[in-house]
Amino acid sequence: MKIAVIGVGYVGLVSGVCLAEVGHDVTCVDLDAQKIDKLNQNIVPIFEPGLSEMVATNRETGRLHFTTDLEDALKGAEAAFIAVGTPSRERDGHADLSYIYAAAKSIAEKAAKPLVIINKSTVPVGTGDEVEEIVKSTRPDLQFDIVSNPEFLREGAAIKDFMAPDRIVVGVESEHAQKVLAEIYAPFAQKNYPILYVNRRTSELTKYAANSFLALKLAYINEVAELCEVVGADIKGVSKGIGLDPRIGEKFLNAGPGYGGSCFPKDTLALVRTAQDHERPLRLIEMIVSINEYRKRAMSRKIAQMCENEVKGKKIAILGLTFKPNTDDMREAPSISIIQGLQDMGAEIYAYDPEGMENAKHILKDVTFCDSALACIDQADAMVIVTEWDEFRDLPFAEIKKKMRKPVLVDLRNLYDGQPLKAEGFDYQCVGRPLETVMS
Ligand code: UDX
Repeated sequence: MKIAVIGVGYVGLVSGVCLAEVGHDVTCVDLDAQKIDKLNQNIVPIFEPGLSEMVATNRETGRLHFTTDLEDALKGAEAAFIAVGTPSRERDGHADLSYIYAAAKSIAEKAAKPLVIINKSTVPVGTGDEVEEIVKSTRPDLQFDIVSNPEFLREGAAIKDFMAPDRIVVGVESEHAQKVLAEIYAPFAQKNYPILYVNRRTSELTKYAANSFLALKLAYINEVAELCEVVGADIKGVSKGIGLDPRIGEKFLNAGPGYGGSCFPKDTLALVRTAQDHERPLRLIEMIVSINEYRKRAMSRKIAQMCENEVKGKKIAILGLTFKPNTDDMREAPSISIIQGLQDMGAEIYAYDPEGMENAKHILKDVTFCDSALACIDQADAMVIVTEWDEFRDLPFAEIKKKMRKPVLVDLRNLYDGQPLKAEGFDYQCVGRPLETVMS
């Protein structure tokens, strides 16, 4: 099927490339000429394992195209995916839908034949109805359907999540739209991946409800981790012990410095606002938002505690800046609040991240960026693991200990086994495991 994808951000690009991979003829369109130019040279603007290779191979087969010309992209297309950003509106936390509305209007203006317009961006319940109004009033003559089809991609595992999904959720209001979506996802149906057809509003809400539930799991395990530290329990054991119950499930139970990223913080807040507007407040999710905010900032106090409650003038080495490994994404990364908290206490921050430093440089102020983990910890008073990149799993600790001014290691991702590190002479502290007294 000939398909247009509007927006080559994270979601649009991954979806477009994967739809081409399963055999569709896909044209991705974006207003950003620079991005399109790069993609036409197989240069991918985001870091996602496997994506550049797939862009190259699918362009070669002639199934994947990039353009800035929407009219061209829509020529002959039966379906158009909208995959533009829906950031948090700064003044009130509602999702900012201006890019969605603009995309809907441009599609309506340029559409040449009956079109199924599929919204892949994360949008509050009822947005499909608004988009329908926009298209109808812009082009009263056009035959069209509006569908909701949220994405459930994790950064760093986006291709796998698209190609082997847990489920595909489709919100449709007409038989014709359902037929077109069934054709788009036929290669997935053949492999028995579940496709759930619901109405449009159900589909829109499902995305928010899913992300908020996962955020809830994380906030919960992080609070239990706090308790573990003072009662002498081990969060890893607790997570395993509860996760083996299939009603709970073992995923998303790793305690850490709080969640970040482009989805959870924005979507929990937007769901809270929607629920309040409908006078059905989701108090549990309101609480999750504040627990997570508290958590991120509390980590800087935890680090200070390991430095004998004084970080003023001390050199703190931060290893890992992105909100999680295998991405260069800094959006809402816990490192931002942690670093700010430490700087407010007078610490000097040195930082290293394998992929995120270019993006971090636009966000973090007064930070010295280093070329490697070893350069970062040189003469440091403490080193802190904020993101669990694989390359941090196997560091030369004997050498590190010699290079650091004080061998203090704060492991906010529970990457290491504390015993050998203690034997090596480190003051080691992780999360959710019994508090250790600071050794001199
Ligand atoms: C998330 C959802 O997983 C995905 O389905 C949705 O489409 C978009 O949002 P993503 O933001 O890419 O994906 O990251 P994810 O892997 O879910 O991690 C989110 C945050 O939770 C990260 O900051 C991560 O470090 C944290 N996390 C995750 C934990 O602290 N512990 C865990 O056990 C899992």
